[in-house]
Amino acid sequence: MNILLIGSGGREHAIAWKLKQSPKINNLFIVPGNAGTKELGVNVDININDFENIGKLVLQENIHMVIVGPEEPLVNGIHDYFLSNNSLSKIPVIGPAAKGAMLEGSKDFAKQFMVRHNIPTAKYKSFSGNELNGAIEFMKTLKPPYVLKADGLAAGKGVLILDDLAEASRELELMFGGKFGKASATVVIEEFLKGIELSVFVISDGNSYVILPEAKDYKRIGEGDTGLNTGGMGAVSPVPFADASFMQTVEDKIIKPTVEGLKKDNIPYKGFIFFGLIKVDGKPIVIEYNVRLGDPETEAVIPRIKSDLLDLFEATTNGKLNEYKLETDNRTVTTVMLVSGGYPETYTNGKEIKSLNNIRDSIVFHAGTKFVENKVLTNGGRVLAVSSYGNSIPDALAISKKNAEIIEFEGKYYRKDIGFDL
Ligand code: AMP
Ligand code: GLY
Repeated sequence: MNILLIGSGGREHAIAWKLKQSPKINNLFIVPGNAGTKELGVNVDININDFENIGKLVLQENIHMVIVGPEEPLVNGIHDYFLSNNSLSKIPVIGPAAKGAMLEGSKDFAKQFMVRHNIPTAKYKSFSGNELNGAIEFMKTLKPPYVLKADGLAAGKGVLILDDLAEASRELELMFGGKFGKASATVVIEEFLKGIELSVFVISDGNSYVILPEAKDYKRIGEGDTGLNTGGMGAVSPVPFADASFMQTVEDKIIKPTVEGLKKDNIPYKGFIFFGLIKVDGKPIVIEYNVRLGDPETEAVIPRIKSDLLDLFEATTNGKLNEYKLETDNRTVTTVMLVSGGYPETYTNGKEIKSLNNIRDSIVFHAGTKFVENKVLTNGGRVLAVSSYGNSIPDALAISKKNAEIIEFEGKYYRKDIGFDL
């Protein structure tokens, strides 16, 4: 099969790495890809939201399946574009159409969906710009801290958690005034939940689903979960507190009702569902839905999948997940992200990365890299994800850290404490 994978991060390098191991794969194209995916297939420099040129590439290269990594093209309707175009409508796309992608594209839609289908989530209300006073009155009924969420996509930055009511009211006014552009024209205000978070992933064919290994990611820049939020500084899989009985509750109370809910609402869905969960008093509650895999969770989850990924995708597009059995690796995988100095604030791209060839015992997934004049250069805040297997989190982490130390680029920073709280 010829496959087109869309995206350019560590998640996409991990998916490409796994796809490449399938005996069924013929040509692999990545739009736009990075210096890591270039070693596995052909990078094509097209914007991920340029559906017309993506469609042309698919026809020109005789692509048999399209796999969408990031949320943006899904929310913007890439799957709908394929379905509505005669020459593309038969080519399966992994990733929901725009309606299903609203689970991630609109927090208000996701909250209404969860309430409608009785899926546990924090108490909330949504408000638009002309309802500032009503919104402040609602906040007064909640205990601090106050959780304010821009309804739309805001590149992972649209959630504010504030201790003080006056400050929360000011921020709310800024959000309505366009702090996150159109994304914060509507704001979801919700009850703060205290607990420990984890990420659970499934792939659904619209009727059935397969649960992938779960993971926990580490979003803060500083050790001990301190400092600014980032796209993710590392991940571990499996998550020790997600034991069989907890995961059974997740399946019964959250996964099944979500897949059933999509069916009841007539929303066809072939793709990943990422449940951002928090464990409160032993019970899972949904913090958010995403319609893709997580990054850097994927760099820890994919190495734990033994099955052929292309088989899984084919079972998804053919509606055969009810008879599919996923094989996983029992070992732990720990992923450490190497980032550019200054990230998540300002940083400089274009630093040469050295010693990649000296890495043993880890898989290095490229996140923000570019291949220029025979050199691998940094090209983003998150640069490389170093994933290692072990029989425990400390074992796996020790290998990732050893290799994180070997890789060189100016300004390199990474957290040494991934998994510290487990
Ligand atoms: P989201 O973009 O919805 O995942 O929110 C980003 C982060 O904010 C989450 O990963 C949580 O750490 C935190 N968060 C979101 N909603 C809540 C909540 N209701 N209570 C506590 N923390 C939350
Ligand atoms: N690591 C969280 C995310 O991908 O949204």
